[in-house]
Amino acid sequence: MNRRTFAMQASAWLLAAGAAPDAWPFFRKKKKQQPAPAPAAPALNSVVGTASLRAHGLLAALPVGCAVVPEILDLEGARAGKTSDPYTQTVLDQAGILVAENAMKWSALRPTPAGYDFAASDRLFDFAHVGGQLVRGHNLCWHEQLPAWFASVATPENAASLLTQHIQRVAGRYAGRVQSWDVVNEAVHPPDGRPDGLRNSPWLRLLGPGYIELAFRTAAQADPQARLTYNDYDIELDTPDQEVKRGQVLLLLRRLHARGIPVGAVGIQSHLQATGPQPGAGLVQFIREVASMGMEVYITEMDVNTHALPGDAAAQDDAVALVYDRYLRLVLPEPNVKACLTWGITDAHTWLNQTPKPWAERPDGTRQRPLPFDDHYQPVKAFYSMRDAIDAARAATTRNAVAAPTAPQQQPFVPFAVPGSPSSPH
Ligand code: G3I
Repeated sequence: MNRRTFAMQASAWLLAAGAAPDAWPFFRKKKKQQPAPAPAAPALNSVVGTASLRAHGLLAALPVGCAVVPEILDLEGARAGKTSDPYTQTVLDQAGILVAENAMKWSALRPTPAGYDFAASDRLFDFAHVGGQLVRGHNLCWHEQLPAWFASVATPENAASLLTQHIQRVAGRYAGRVQSWDVVNEAVHPPDGRPDGLRNSPWLRLLGPGYIELAFRTAAQADPQARLTYNDYDIELDTPDQEVKRGQVLLLLRRLHARGIPVGAVGIQSHLQATGPQPGAGLVQFIREVASMGMEVYITEMDVNTHALPGDAAAQDDAVALVYDRYLRLVLPEPNVKACLTWGITDAHTWLNQTPKPWAERPDGTRQRPLPFDDHYQPVKAFYSMRDAIDAARAATTRNAVAAPTAPQQQPFVPFAVPGSPSSPH
């Protein structure tokens, strides 16, 4: 679905949901900023229709959505306009943009070196079509979740064609229907000790640093309409480690931009912690540096980990809501932040309740509550924090214009003030 089709469908969806047409952000020419019209008053405690995250996002010209597991979405029920499945209903109600949590990774799509399995990813696109939802692609090139055969099949001689053929086939299949593609995921990892900050990934070992450029160029040919995105984690905080990583990500983006590589956006994953340092001014500075290259920013995988937070469910809900509130009020007003997704919509389906690691499991054995809806599909405080932050951003920001990437700079390697970057004075 392209942006125009989406705008038309979204307008129809808002009309059906009962939002006043003069509040729609679509097709408006940029004009003097006016006070945002008040949203239609929702019924008490209502969280669907005009009271949903999706509707509030639409009114702010901000696609809001979540990662999903396409295999368990009730596509047939959605097609019939009637589902009894709460997961499906919540995704339909709340998400204006979807991304597959796992179904579009190499391990899911590539059961054999020659074969592709598009069953789950096709299901995602079919579902999104029914639901009038945008789709993000995740991901085309990552060091994790490579199929078991990859290690014995990939060689320095065939790796470039493995990568390009995969991208041509996958991005080509869904061309014109993807809002943005995570073309390269998590390629920066300063602890690996390389001067360029790149991760010592299988792709780097096989192809050298040029694999990143190759992936973006190939994706641009395969789907010229999608915003091509570099996606990463641990770049949210102003801590020394994350400032170093953020600086290296920025240097990578500048190198790519200078060489005319079509990177159109940066995904800030936003897997945050309820305890410890919280994001601050350095993140906003980073988003603005990205904007200066004409790139959009997406909040791609937000959730709040409470493994280290003592207390009961109510204590978790309070802490998680506070993180959503502070974080989204910090980043959403930036005009180049153009999408906001949580990594799941319900605590019933979150990797944080499926990962048997000390950094995910709570010592008291209770489940994490990192998302806007709990295990029973009830909205928690984080839902309201998120919705209020979207409204606040709507009042503060004009987000209608879609920025085009700027021309490459003449002197791409001029130092810039990002703490921790190699060219920074400190
Ligand atoms: O599909 C198999 C299943 O057949 C098997 O029975 C089961 C047994 O453990 O494993 C299943 O695969 C798991 C898969 O999730 C699907 O549930 C993998 O073991 C597990 O490692 C995988 O974890 C995913 C992880 O990425 C690695 O791909 C998480 O669900 C997913 O939330 C997580 O998402 C990542 C983003 O892609 C990138 N950013 C970080 C984010 C969180 O780690």
